[in-house]
Amino acid sequence: MTVSRQAFPPDFVWAVATSSFQIEGAAQIDGKGPSIWDRFCEQPGVIADASNGIVACDHYHRLEQDLDLIASLGVNAYRFSISWPRVQPLGKGAWNDKGLDFYERIVDGLLARGLQPHATLNHWDLPQALQDEDGWASRDTVNRFVDYALGIQRRLGDRLAGLCTHNEPWVVAMLGHRNGIFAPGIKNEAVAWQVSHHLLLSHGLALRALRQEGAKAELGIVLNLSPMHPATDSEADRAKARLEDGQLLRWYLDAIHHGRYPEDVLAALGPNAPVIEDGDLAAIQTPLDFLGINYYSRSVVSSGEPWDAAARGLDVTDMGWEVYPQGLTELLLRLQRDYPKLPPVYITENGAAFRDEVAHGRVHDVERVRYLQQHIQAVQDAMQQGARVHGYMVWSLLDNFEWAFGYSKRFGIVHVDYATLKRTPKDSALWYREFLKAGT
Ligand code: FCB
Repeated sequence: MTVSRQAFPPDFVWAVATSSFQIEGAAQIDGKGPSIWDRFCEQPGVIADASNGIVACDHYHRLEQDLDLIASLGVNAYRFSISWPRVQPLGKGAWNDKGLDFYERIVDGLLARGLQPHATLNHWDLPQALQDEDGWASRDTVNRFVDYALGIQRRLGDRLAGLCTHNEPWVVAMLGHRNGIFAPGIKNEAVAWQVSHHLLLSHGLALRALRQEGAKAELGIVLNLSPMHPATDSEADRAKARLEDGQLLRWYLDAIHHGRYPEDVLAALGPNAPVIEDGDLAAIQTPLDFLGINYYSRSVVSSGEPWDAAARGLDVTDMGWEVYPQGLTELLLRLQRDYPKLPPVYITENGAAFRDEVAHGRVHDVERVRYLQQHIQAVQDAMQQGARVHGYMVWSLLDNFEWAFGYSKRFGIVHVDYATLKRTPKDSALWYREFLKAGT
């Protein structure tokens, strides 16, 4: 594998990424309000290992050590998220100074180490108090989110390099409100699509308001995208793949890029289509400074039995997700072709879970090293063919709370022993450091 940092521009952003609920812990102290994920974890049977985020990686209490760890990798940036209920416990009204101080320590600690802070406002941990008033299904939450965004900008905006509204709105809408396997655990198709509209609307209105108040950070949104490949050439498989591509990718990017939702998706939704008010789509079309893309694998869509990569003997991760780096090149080139006016892209997440074990102070995660090499190569291939990519962020710095899987899936390039909370850089962390060093 010949992938080299030197093949990328010198100002390319190289980072590691995390999110608040997955690593912070300190869920019930210093004035933090409960989030929908705190509440969701209390329900029996919804988290594979019956765990929760009360301690997680205890990042809240180990901040300085973790910032040193990030700096030791040789990255030039860090992507983290802000827990809304930590800074504004009820999602409206009073702000919690201790919470704001914590994120200020992150931002200042990064800058002191020469690292760019890239913050995400919503990585899924909505204040439970807002969920008690219908959460993202309610149009009022849109206004609450704009206020929250402005509050964060007033406190931190002068020092952030990037500010992202939502992480993976498709996941919040569909897994949280249609399938119900993620918080808040609702199973209602019409609600899910209303939520997806409200997320986009709150994104657009927040961007407008942030700019009106003189935003300095680059503003954007993060989408989870995958190429949708039909399992066979049959008309049924191809039609299903096209519709799922419409729901995952075109729904978001047509709205942002063209100010309209895709006709075929609306037609298929019928009565489950969201209520859209005059002016909503114009707000959603507010230009982005960057588009964040989280890429893990392709999707293979079948109108019959679900397609199972592992059963076919393909290379898969511990999530069962196929290792398919060429899908990232394909996706980046497709975006370039179909949405030519899109701003530059950051790969805001890419990484893999494997069953890692510590032996004699080392973790030989050869598969993860290979995964990262192949995907960085895939980014480079796309850039050589004209894709405008400005950065790459590994998911994740630390092993952490992987949502409905609890702590059973390890995505970190640094291993966490949950009994002692000891951090052990895996071979992938050592590889990333060498890779980054070689280009400087
Ligand atoms: C993404 C999430 C992130 C993490 C990875 C594995 O969908 O944004 O928090 O769970 O998947």
